[in-house]
Amino acid sequence: MVRVSRPPGAARCRLLLPVLVLLLCGHIAAVAGHKSGSALTVVNTDGGVGGDEEEEGTVGDEEEEETVGADEDLDVFQPTEQWQTLKPGQALPAGSHVRLNLQTGQREVKLGEEQLKYRTPEHRTPEHREKEEEEESRPSFSPDELKRAMKRMKEDLDPDLNPDLNPADPDPNPDHQDSAASRFRPLEELKQDMAELDLLVETDVQIMGRLLQQLNGSAATTEQRLSLLLELEYLVHQVDNAQTLCSMGGLDLILGGLNSSDFRLQESSAFVLGSALSSNPVVQVKAVESGALQTLLTTLVTAQPLHVKKKVLFALAALLRQFPYAQQHFVSHGGLQVLAELFQQDGGGILRTRIVTMLYDLITEKELMFQAGLDPVTDPAHEERRRQYSRVSLQGELGEKGWCSLVPQLLQSSEHDHREKALRALIAMAPACSDQYRLQPWLLDSLLALRLQYQDLVHSEMILGEENSYFSEIVELIDTLHVKLR
Ligand SMILES: *[C@@H]1O[C@H](CO)[C@@H](O)[C@H](O)[C@H]1NC(C)=O
Ligand SMILES: *[C@@H]1O[C@H](CO)[C@@H](O)[C@H](O)[C@H]1NC(C)=O
Repeated sequence: MVRVSRPPGAARCRLLLPVLVLLLCGHIAAVAGHKSGSALTVVNTDGGVGGDEEEEGTVGDEEEEETVGADEDLDVFQPTEQWQTLKPGQALPAGSHVRLNLQTGQREVKLGEEQLKYRTPEHRTPEHREKEEEEESRPSFSPDELKRAMKRMKEDLDPDLNPDLNPADPDPNPDHQDSAASRFRPLEELKQDMAELDLLVETDVQIMGRLLQQLNGSAATTEQRLSLLLELEYLVHQVDNAQTLCSMGGLDLILGGLNSSDFRLQESSAFVLGSALSSNPVVQVKAVESGALQTLLTTLVTAQPLHVKKKVLFALAALLRQFPYAQQHFVSHGGLQVLAELFQQDGGGILRTRIVTMLYDLITEKELMFQAGLDPVTDPAHEERRRQYSRVSLQGELGEKGWCSLVPQLLQSSEHDHREKALRALIAMAPACSDQYRLQPWLLDSLLALRLQYQDLVHSEMILGEENSYFSEIVELIDTLHVKLR
């Protein structure tokens, strides 16, 4: 750091000066300075140049103190949220931020923004897009602008170039100070802008902590809570983030939201829960331990609007998927009765189709587990899973709880998709239901009618030159089910 002393009479405005560093921001494939697409930036590292020794002594470079020399034996460097010094020969994960500290000559590394935010476009909602556009409109600097700015800072600090800073030439003229102050103003502005740049690298963990805190407080309005939940939903698609949500105690908050008297909060909470649970065994276990299954079933019974029930069903399906322990509890806690009531209430068919699809998924998931067991695999974990699945008596319960006559009703829908889902489920349920199917003569009649209809559709498609269409798939499903009815 360049040390300068100030003329005794000079105003005691402290010169705040960022340590000059070159920030090589880009995707680093390996070390040795090999980089691609690097951009030059200045990092907001508070250094200070004070007018006297005491003041100088209090201003340290925090980040240098945090330089860590661990991982010496490892070839692959593990970046964290903090800047760490990179050892020669260490490889870096792509996307890490690297900067060259001009003072020490060492390279420093931390997690890149891309590594902190694993966001994929398909999870973006209009709100998120708006937010991103907002962020994009924040000030940013081109490498040239930053080079120019740094050159000016150097000049300002060089006593030869800047007479204001020359101790041998104290300047008692107050007017001169004004002109110096006006020349320093851009530095202050630059520093502020750089602080904003640093803020952009708030990690997902920090963001979630903030969101949960706001959600937990009593100050937020319903509208604000809804947007907090929406932001959380966006984050928990990432497996790690969903697990962080649990470890931060967020699960209880979300379950509390499901219990809310405001149906919009119920809906959004169910959405967050379902997204956090999807393909995330750790969260699934935590959720069951927190009583999520009971809460979801209760909400499914009590929630009023259809779209709330839809989201709750989404969360329930995500909780049960590939989780035989939860499935067993679902069956033994009357989950199938709850779904049966829901099925009967839903005239439109959307909820019916979702329920039937969910049952189909659960049946086939278990079947696949036992088919895979035909392999001479003696993996203990696999054996344990098979043992757990064998306790889920889904087929038997479906037969007893009236599903053999409920699912056929979905065939009356006018939607091809609903019918297809119904046919697949009816085939999957046949081992438990075929006797009951035969007791419903209208089922065979409607199958034959559907077959004629889809055969016609297949023919008209063949005239247009299409083969192996969706409709011929449905005809095949009808034939398969027909065989099971004989
Ligand atoms: C919510 O606040 C309560 C008490 O104010 C606290 O015990 C709890 O840990 C907080 N939960 C979260 C997720 O911050
Ligand atoms: C939901 O609310 C009811 C009372 O309205 C309460 O008894 C129950 O404990 C609450 N459940 C959760 C998970 O907050």
